[in-house]
Amino acid sequence: MNILVLNGPNLNLLGSRESNIYGEESLNVIEKKLLKLAEDNSFSVNFFQSNAEHELINCIHNSKENNISAIIFNPAAFTHTSIALRDALLAVKIPFYEVHISDINSREEFRKKSFFSDIAEKVFTGKGTNGYLLALEEIIKNN
Ligand code: DQA
Repeated sequence: MNILVLNGPNLNLLGSRESNIYGEESLNVIEKKLLKLAEDNSFSVNFFQSNAEHELINCIHNSKENNISAIIFNPAAFTHTSIALRDALLAVKIPFYEVHISDINSREEFRKKSFFSDIAEKVFTGKGTNGYLLALEEIIKNN
């Protein structure tokens, strides 16, 4: 089973970006942990991060032909703005798990609105970078 881990804008800066909110771990370290967990369970995992909305949309579209069965997605700031990304996920009909490192419900008012939560299989918010691993464990458990 192939899983895609998709990360939105500014998450390439994890580790140095607002570490009081997002922690000290780089995206590379998180991806290595996910790869190990996936491989230990005979799952295959692909990673993509972009700061551009259209690149994330294209990656979701390509997921169909790349035989992706589940997506772990942190849309970052696009969480609160992007109907286009929501529509892309609905179009490909691939189940996805929404991850937020910080707790979007206990920050600024504008972060409380997610265009993804009502169509996600499950939402992991405020679990730190461990949220990605929890999402992968959930996929492994269900497949
Ligand atoms: C985030 C929360 C978003 O509000 C923010 O714009 C991000 C990261 C998180 O992982 O906590 O960039 O998705």
